[in-house]
Amino acid sequence: MRLVMIGTGYVGLVSGACFAHLGHDVTCLDIDETKINKLQKGISPIYEPGLEKLLKTNIEEKKLKFTSDVKQAIQDAEVCFLTLPTPSTDEGKAELSYILSAADQLADMMDEYKLIVIKSTVPPKTCHMLREHIHKRLESLNKHYNFDVVSNPEFLREGSAVYDFMNPDRIIIGADNESCFDQIKALYAPLHLDNSKLITMDTVSSEMTKYAANSMLATRISFMNELSGLCEKIGANIENVRVGIGSDQRIGHQFLRAGVGFGGSCFPKDIRALIASSKQYDYEMPILTAVESINRKQKKLLAQKIKSYFNSKGGLKGKTIAIWGISFKPETDDIREAPSIELIKELINQGASLRLYDPVAMNNAQLELSTLSNLKWCEDEYEASEGADAVALVTEWQQFKLTDLESILDQMSGKALFDGRNHYLEHDLREKGFEYFAIGMPTS
Ligand SMILES: NC(=O)c1ccc[n+]([C@@H]2O[C@H](COP(=O)([O-])OP(=O)(O)OC[C@H]3O[C@@H](n4cnc5c(N)ncnc54)[C@H](O)[C@@H]3O)[C@@H](O)[C@H]2O)c1
Repeated sequence: MRLVMIGTGYVGLVSGACFAHLGHDVTCLDIDETKINKLQKGISPIYEPGLEKLLKTNIEEKKLKFTSDVKQAIQDAEVCFLTLPTPSTDEGKAELSYILSAADQLADMMDEYKLIVIKSTVPPKTCHMLREHIHKRLESLNKHYNFDVVSNPEFLREGSAVYDFMNPDRIIIGADNESCFDQIKALYAPLHLDNSKLITMDTVSSEMTKYAANSMLATRISFMNELSGLCEKIGANIENVRVGIGSDQRIGHQFLRAGVGFGGSCFPKDIRALIASSKQYDYEMPILTAVESINRKQKKLLAQKIKSYFNSKGGLKGKTIAIWGISFKPETDDIREAPSIELIKELINQGASLRLYDPVAMNNAQLELSTLSNLKWCEDEYEASEGADAVALVTEWQQFKLTDLESILDQMSGKALFDGRNHYLEHDLREKGFEYFAIGMPTS
């Protein structure tokens, strides 16, 4: 089938490349011409394992194109995916202006039936609203084409997005007629999925499913973070508790790690959006409100631990802290709402100098933090630790497990290591001579 991905970001680019790999003819459309120019040369604007290879192969095989030409891209396509941003507004609602302006463009360019698929995360009832919006626009243009609007939320995880697209746990399809279900199923048919993985429902429930999934995962994280605070006070170890409860099959091991809070472009904004939606219906969501407020508190925790450690050592002014990891999670260069950003700003605010390193997110971080001084961007975690009074690990990159910690300690001025992800074993680090501080553990 001929597809257009309207919006070539993490979701549009990965799903576009994967659909091309499945045999469809895909055009990725974006208003960002610099991005499109790069992509036309086969250069990925984002870091995502396996993506660049997929781009290269499918561009060569002419299954995948990139353009900023809206008219051509829309008129050539049978299926139009909306993979546009839905960031938070100031009141926490999902900003739908990107979706609405793309819908206007769709209506303006439409010259035959189109299947319009919302892949962006949007509040329940957006499909209904969009149908109405496009209908009115077509009427005003005196155009009489049929179209359908369906929901097909995306569940890929940054860092393993290509794998996730190709090996989905499930595909959710929200539509109001059988023919739409069949068309979407046909798109995914080359994946040869078991029927039980193709879950069909109405559009409102499908839109809700995406928010419910992210809210559930975020709830598990905030729950563990809340417990970790009590563990520290009582003298229990959250890591033992995590292993203990995760072994219960009803609970499972995933998303039970205490740490410095969740970030990224999805969980924080989706929770805010669901809370905002509930307010429109005069319905309270105390669990989600708590999930959000626990997370806000948790993002400040590492800075507090570092500050209180240096209190008895003359304060943070003039101290040097090494920051290991800036992306909101490993295997991505995405720093949107990353806990590291808040930590970095607070430490600078307190007068510290920072030596920073992330395996792939340095460019994005340098742009985001360009107004701050006292930052030294380093080649690796070793350079970052030279002369540091303390190390703060914020992103649990696997490579930090292999770091030679003895040489790190040798070249530091101090010996404190603040582990914001419980990435190391406490007794190991203490044996090596570090003063080790993690999340949810008794401080000896
Ligand atoms: N990033 C994720 O891991 C993820 C996972 C699942 C769902 N989602 C959801 O998918 C949606 C997209 O997220 P993302 O992370 O890919 O966003 P993104 O910011 O990475 O990409 C969006 C792209 O849309 C482009 N764009 C904006 N207006 C446009 C227009 N009128 N025409 C064409 N292009 C336009 C932007 O230039 C940008 O390249 C959001 O709703 C998000 O919540 C994201």
